[in-house]
Amino acid sequence: MIKINNLHVSVEGQEILKGVDLVVRPGEVHAVMGKNGSGKSTLAFTLAGHPKYEIKSPKSKSLKVESGAIEIDGKIIDELAPNERAEMGLFLANQYPAAVPGLGSTSFLWQIYKKKNPSTGSGRVVTSIIEFRKWIEEQAKVLDLNLELLKRGLNDGFSGGEKKKMEILQMLVSNPKYVVLDEIDSGLDVEALKKIATTVAKVAKGLNIGVIIITHYSRLLKYIKVDRVHIMEAGVIKKSGDSSLIEKIENTGFGDNDNRL
Ligand SMILES: Nc1ncnc2c1ncn2[C@@H]1O[C@H](COP(=O)(O)OP(=O)(O)O)[C@@H](O)[C@H]1O
Ligand SMILES: [Mg+2]
Repeated sequence: MIKINNLHVSVEGQEILKGVDLVVRPGEVHAVMGKNGSGKSTLAFTLAGHPKYEIKSPKSKSLKVESGAIEIDGKIIDELAPNERAEMGLFLANQYPAAVPGLGSTSFLWQIYKKKNPSTGSGRVVTSIIEFRKWIEEQAKVLDLNLELLKRGLNDGFSGGEKKKMEILQMLVSNPKYVVLDEIDSGLDVEALKKIATTVAKVAKGLNIGVIIITHYSRLLKYIKVDRVHIMEAGVIKKSGDSSLIEKIENTGFGDNDNRL
């Protein structure tokens, strides 16, 4: 499981996360919601190990803290590099995926696939790039992603929605244990939203993955069953509850000043 204990994070000397606690077990889907600027992406980048996001134990506790701020399957990952976290099965889909024009999309996905799906045992479905190309095209079709894009450089000239679908393909080939999706729904039309949400739901359930869905809007959550909802505000999780909290947010918003939630 992912265990986040009293997580404090600073960016360029400014404290952004001010004590976040969260536990996500395999097979659970958690939604982290909140206004812009509440710290959602900071949480995602911190989990992924972005070097700009510095984990700090609060002063009053610093001498006592023995456990880490973030643990995955019992291992403290606070000091691990992003690739080491990825090796432990953590996958982050970015809010703003980068384009890498020189890197062929299909060969990029194939490289990840080979690395993440062991050639022995039941892990690897396909064994050659030719087979892989067919397989990934099938997955792209499910997402309604134009197959021509797979021949381009990674995210090169992709629309916002196409980039998000590419993130989902990366998730599929990564064979992850834990997935963090940061605003995978932003800039998507309803059809794309449904396709992405149903794919995530299917994969999460099929592979018993722990999922953290970060979103500003509740619409994505119509298509994926959520076990817990957390409302983030000013760097802390202000309220947690079951999926009925989503409806409440739809009716009242996150609240601008306040204690409505
Ligand atoms: N790399 C960064 N450099 C400076 N400030 C940052 C950085 N990342 C986040 N922040 C600040 O942290 C706060 C939370 O931002 P963010 O985590 O992106 O919120 P959200 O994803 O909920 O919209 C904001 O005030 C933002 O300006
Ligand atoms: Mg964000």
